[in-house]
Amino acid sequence: MSEHDRRPLVAGNWKMNGLQQDGLALARAVANEMPKPGPEILICPPATLVNAIAQCVEGSSVLVGGQDCHPATSGAHTGDISAEMLVDAGATHVILGHSERRQDHGETSPDIRAKLTAAHDAGLVAIVCIGETLAERDAGQTLDILSAQLEASLTPAGDHRVTAGNTVIAYEPIWAIGTGRTPSLDDVGVAHAHIRSFLATLIAAEAGGMRLLYGGSVKPGNAEELLAIADVDGALVGGASLQAEDFCAIAAAAHS
Ligand code: PGA
Repeated sequence: MSEHDRRPLVAGNWKMNGLQQDGLALARAVANEMPKPGPEILICPPATLVNAIAQCVEGSSVLVGGQDCHPATSGAHTGDISAEMLVDAGATHVILGHSERRQDHGETSPDIRAKLTAAHDAGLVAIVCIGETLAERDAGQTLDILSAQLEASLTPAGDHRVTAGNTVIAYEPIWAIGTGRTPSLDDVGVAHAHIRSFLATLIAAEAGGMRLLYGGSVKPGNAEELLAIADVDGALVGGASLQAEDFCAIAAAAHS
């Protein structure tokens, strides 16, 4: 995949929101109202809704993903789900290493690396999340943190290959998630350019085609300017993905 093939991706992370009735209604509205032609659209509902939503959007352009997976394929891991189970339920993608998983469940970048292998082995496209805390940003460490997270999350093990087709990176400054605050457009541009060039040292030619999403308080009102930044190839959207109208407006901005 070359840089010319970087079709924008707009992914909705519903987090721990959605019951059958409202979740299916939201997914149906997204499938019906999504601009066509448009970017690639992904909905990541809670695990309980993956299968129902995959069935409900079948035949539309909307794809469905999980929000996490376990590194093992099966076994004694109470409460966890495997990448293979997500595929079985109809998912094509999985979010890995979201900062809420890192914070709430103590996930580390090497954990993400193991999950990444499992996701790829099952045939899922993984969205690997990276991002700095406010304290790290204030200390001027943002780019170093991003490099360290990328290296520890992606560095190949054995013959496993990270490619532009099987992996997407989401840059999500932790302090921007759910806060209504975003970095300046210049800062987003600097971070994404850094991620692209650092990726080249890890995965060589695949770096040019890999999609880099921005996430953290993306809304209809700021989507167009964020998505116009070089090396921003889409968005990972939390709160605004819970309203079909807002999510579709963000998707429309990705296409224009
Ligand atoms: P937000 O969440 O859009 O609500 O800030 C983004 C995310 O956590 O992926």
